[in-house]
Amino acid sequence: MALLDIVLFPDARLREPCDPVTEVTDQIRQQLRDMAETMYDAPGIGLAAPQVGLRSRLIVVDVGSDDEPESPRRLYQLVNPEITASEGQVDSEEGCLSIPTIRETVQRFERISVAALDEQGQPITIDADGLLAICLQHEIDHLNGILFIDYLSKLKQQLIKSKLKKLAQR
Ligand code: NI
Repeated sequence: MALLDIVLFPDARLREPCDPVTEVTDQIRQQLRDMAETMYDAPGIGLAAPQVGLRSRLIVVDVGSDDEPESPRRLYQLVNPEITASEGQVDSEEGCLSIPTIRETVQRFERISVAALDEQGQPITIDADGLLAICLQHEIDHLNGILFIDYLSKLKQQLIKSKLKKLAQR
């Protein structure tokens, strides 16, 4: 297990679409475990491969939280995840480990179905709503080089860029 360095906006690696995984190997499983460890350490509820400098279509998600004792803590380690169905719209206040300190409201689908391979290479389908649906959309976007701030107005994106630049200069 290893903690990985998190790539920060505006690093160009966050903009490159990731390649499909052709075979779920031990190396892929190791990368997923390292990503999960890095996510828990951050702490965050999701992490995508480009955020740790990897170019494969891999995400990890765990939205279980102490605030919701009813929801079983569940770690998803997904390979080649794809949204296969979507329904409804919902406002979602989001942040991103690669864009520290920024939280903004964007629109997401309310419910989605995701097809993927699990860490054993077995096909799985996830029917998700609530925070899990939002988190899956956010992380799958990362695999296509899309960040949540892309959904904001150009003006707001400019403000965020200058705020982050100032933070980085400190
Ligand atoms: Ni993110």
